[in-house]
Amino acid sequence: MRAVVFHEHGSVSKLALEEFPDPVAGPMDAILRVKATSLNGFDPMILAGTTGLKTPLPMIPCGDIAGEITQLGAEVVSGEWKIGDRVCPHPFVLGEGMTGETRLGAACELVRIPARNLIRIPDGVSEIDAASLPIAYGTAYRMMLTRGRIQPGEKVLILGATGGVGTCCLQIAKTTGAEVVVTGSAAWKLEKLRELGADHAIDESKQDFVQAVHDLFGKPRLFGGGGVDVIVNYIGGETWARALRCLASHGRMLTCGATAGFEPPTDIRYIWSFEQQVIGSNGWMPDEQVALLEMVAEGRIRPVLHAVRPLEETPRSIQELIDRQVVGKTVITTT
Ligand SMILES: NC(=O)c1ccc[n+]([C@@H]2O[C@H](COP(=O)([O-])OP(=O)(O)OC[C@H]3O[C@@H](n4cnc5c(N)ncnc54)[C@H](OP(=O)(O)O)[C@@H]3O)[C@@H](O)[C@H]2O)c1
Repeated sequence: MRAVVFHEHGSVSKLALEEFPDPVAGPMDAILRVKATSLNGFDPMILAGTTGLKTPLPMIPCGDIAGEITQLGAEVVSGEWKIGDRVCPHPFVLGEGMTGETRLGAACELVRIPARNLIRIPDGVSEIDAASLPIAYGTAYRMMLTRGRIQPGEKVLILGATGGVGTCCLQIAKTTGAEVVVTGSAAWKLEKLRELGADHAIDESKQDFVQAVHDLFGKPRLFGGGGVDVIVNYIGGETWARALRCLASHGRMLTCGATAGFEPPTDIRYIWSFEQQVIGSNGWMPDEQVALLEMVAEGRIRPVLHAVRPLEETPRSIQELIDRQVVGKTVITTT
């Protein structure tokens, strides 16, 4: 099969489109013909080798998969799935880890996945939309609804909202009835977030986000008022301690990552004085992915697509992520 492959860690120059051995199905596996996959924030990190995870080499990037079943292992329960079914599997495999991180990714023509991971793509949802959902949107769904319990009328600040996770957090917060403030690094990106429903947009290249939130809602007060109720902060780094200064009394800081650094200085005074909560969220469960696909089928959320490109353009597309020139998801198609 054709696959985008890297044999050693480094820049996008390490990626090449090559012939790669077809995957072999175990008795409980399915083989899928990949129709589309998509890029995530972790793809440049896995390529560069900066995550601390052990990457098998040679490696194929990309964790999301939308495709069609072409083969089923001998012990897959008959009748449940059939050849040709359209599926968007949960990409985390027990004992193997995340697709595109510690097991071979989906920037290729065929993938192997345990049949228990298979999730049907609802009618009316395209493979391109389905491929953009699992990792970014599944993570956002769990963080905002299951863990964060966003409520109607709450004020929600999303830092670096232009990415895959962020554009979904924005849509979920708006669907729930929250007032949403977003930050981004360029005016053209913020314009797109306004089109998606952001109530307030802070251009971090021009404005300090702490001051901007104080200007909008006032400084947080010990006995209520001021600041925002929820901050979505997967950026970490120098944003962490500053964000605490615009979180309201009893506010919640939600995190699922640390793009700019995972050992940031903090300011514990704000956490105790304002009785703030820090809530972690990691990945998502299969039932959350099913609920997400239903939300897309019902038109309550629509994947935000930056670009749809052929396999050959994977290196250029990963470079765009590194250069922060993306709003939403880049989908890679294989047919
Ligand atoms: N725990 C989990 O299960 C899980 C799953 C998925 C993702 N994540 C994490 O969630 C985060 C977002 O993922 P994603 O796929 O949406 O990533 P992404 O598409 O790369 O988006 C991240 C956003 O952060 C901003 N950003 C990028 N580099 C930055 C830097 N050095 N300093 C400050 N801001 C920066 C960018 O916005 P601007 O350029 O506009 O500022 C970018 O749009 C990542 O940390 C990822 O590792 C965790």
